[in-house]
Amino acid sequence: MSELSVNHLLGIKYLNKKDIKLIFETADHFKEVINRPIKKVPSLRDITIANLFFENSTRTKLSFELAEKRLSADVLNFSSAQSSVKKGETLIDTVNNILSMKVDMVVMRHPNPGAGVFLSKHVKASIINAGDGAHEHPTQALLDSYSIREKLGEVKGKKIVIVGDILHSRVALSNIFALQLQGAEVMVCGPKTLLPKYIGKLGVKVETDLRKALNWCDVANMLRVQNERMDISYFPSTREYTQQFGVTKALLNSLDKKITIMHPGPINRGVEITSDVADSDQAIILDQVQNGVAVRMAVIYLLASKIKQ
Ligand code: NCD
Repeated sequence: MSELSVNHLLGIKYLNKKDIKLIFETADHFKEVINRPIKKVPSLRDITIANLFFENSTRTKLSFELAEKRLSADVLNFSSAQSSVKKGETLIDTVNNILSMKVDMVVMRHPNPGAGVFLSKHVKASIINAGDGAHEHPTQALLDSYSIREKLGEVKGKKIVIVGDILHSRVALSNIFALQLQGAEVMVCGPKTLLPKYIGKLGVKVETDLRKALNWCDVANMLRVQNERMDISYFPSTREYTQQFGVTKALLNSLDKKITIMHPGPINRGVEITSDVADSDQAIILDQVQNGVAVRMAVIYLLASKIKQ
């Protein structure tokens, strides 16, 4: 039987091509399950999963929780809205709690990059990174690629542009790694101030003209401006940002071809995309959300089957 090459999902950078293929094939099966009248399977009846969220989240938290429940796991939820969590102290407290509760798996969102790696070195539980600061968000990238595969048949050879606040985005980095692993061509597009200086070294194309980027791509993944991670002004005003990097229906209609629009959510309607784009038949934003449950079920199931051995 095939299995993942890793015991934790800490970032896409630790995965290989076969892992992604296995996750997608397993997700295909779970997608079929969650569309049945009885949406639950007993696979993880003896597994306990703790969801530790040290940062705000709506869909990622709900999606993980639903995925765990559909697999019949026991679920513990912990949320902390604090923004100034001191990494060492809080994580060690967390570790002690986890150890005493005999938890098998931890899903963690944390403001500090590397928090998942840190935890994986201190607990026996299997760790899933649900977003660590501006670093990685591996399950988001997996569900994004899964949605591209569903819409366009395959990811290999497709041209994907990631638009917006690349500098502060964990979705961008994980997507770049995942798409490249699968043989897609990746471009990033945004204001110069929101493009990391060395981004080209990751092997992506860099563009600051949105129209050119959209005319090049098959898929545009539109990112939210991460105001909560900004301590200085990166562009003169939201209005100017929208004029240069916002996608409107008029802009989409004026392109040479019909491209697919993605967004990890939450959307700031009228900033990175207008409502008529978000709600158009070119957008697969709600498919991404739906696929997120199946992809997370696959990741949890595959990691849990390694724990039992
Ligand atoms: C993203 C995140 O939290 O990194 N959202 C998500 O997980 N669905 C993107 C964002 O917050 O803009």
